[in-house]
Amino acid sequence: MKRILSGMRPTGKLHLGHLFGVLENWKKLQEGYECFFMVADWHALMSEYERPENLRENIIDNVIDWLSCGISPETSHIFIQSYVKEHLELYSILSIITPLGWLERCPTYKEQLREITNRNISTYGFLGYPVLQAADILLYKASCVPVGEDQLPHLELTREIARRFNSLYKKEVFPEPKALLTQGSRILGTDGRKLSKSYDNTILLSDEPAVLCRKIQGMFTDPKRIKRNDPGHPEKCNVHGYYSIFAPERRKEIDELCRSAQIGCTDCKKELAVVVIKYLVPIQEKRNSYLKDKSKIFDIVHEGAKSARTVAATTMVEVKELLGM
Ligand code: TRP
Ligand code: SF4
Repeated sequence: MKRILSGMRPTGKLHLGHLFGVLENWKKLQEGYECFFMVADWHALMSEYERPENLRENIIDNVIDWLSCGISPETSHIFIQSYVKEHLELYSILSIITPLGWLERCPTYKEQLREITNRNISTYGFLGYPVLQAADILLYKASCVPVGEDQLPHLELTREIARRFNSLYKKEVFPEPKALLTQGSRILGTDGRKLSKSYDNTILLSDEPAVLCRKIQGMFTDPKRIKRNDPGHPEKCNVHGYYSIFAPERRKEIDELCRSAQIGCTDCKKELAVVVIKYLVPIQEKRNSYLKDKSKIFDIVHEGAKSARTVAATTMVEVKELLGM
């Protein structure tokens, strides 16, 4: 079976964007690949090192969400990056062979330096972010990496680093991994903008029904529909977008009711809230049962780390031998 590795940074609680953008996809991939799914805590630390106190809580909480959404420890290896020390070991070795220019020119690096202004990320470590990601992938000789479009430059760098290693030491140690491009999540924030923690426009997988109702009632709708009798334009309304995801069977009717002003926005949202709650309740029930017994989570990630370590250690023996160590 072909092998997959993917990871997520534990920088906050998971929301609908993670569910439809990442987890649904991972869930499907579990069936056809040997999957390694990793909480990238070292990567998170690279930007959150000034305030690391929430990291521990997020790590476990994210794993709980993965499990509750159907990522299965029976079929996949679920682990935490920092539990497998080989990640840092290979990262150091790859750092030695990676030309500085490749990292300085990386578009994600330049963009984040520009955009992240509330944290100091002009550090030596942050420049090496993609090298650590390359180490994550190459340690397992993964053939495919499911990622969003934003991560493509990191995948390209990983391939370049693999090629450089193989050619320096004249052995095909690392296969060049392919990106499995995940369709970006179609879901937008409650304000109609891109989902983002900093916009405070996300619906969390862990939001309780009362919170879900409040967030959905606050959603932005068709701005042209001011009075109850104004006909609506569902194609311009984010609530309608949510219907396509949560209740595709109701999409067409809502469309018609909205256009003919037979339904008001408050009722339309009320109905959506019911559907969303129904969708999330089974996930939340699983969440709550895991929360009651966190020792189960630790067992799962320790088990996952054990199998990850077996593969990682084998790769490191091969790598060190080539380096004369
Ligand atoms: N950089 C990725 C992100 O921000 C997370 C990540 C870390 C990752 N290591 C990885 C993704 C390895 C895929 C493979 O989303
Ligand atoms: Fe949007 Fe529904 Fe209001 Fe139409 S009725 S504008 S779809 S919230």
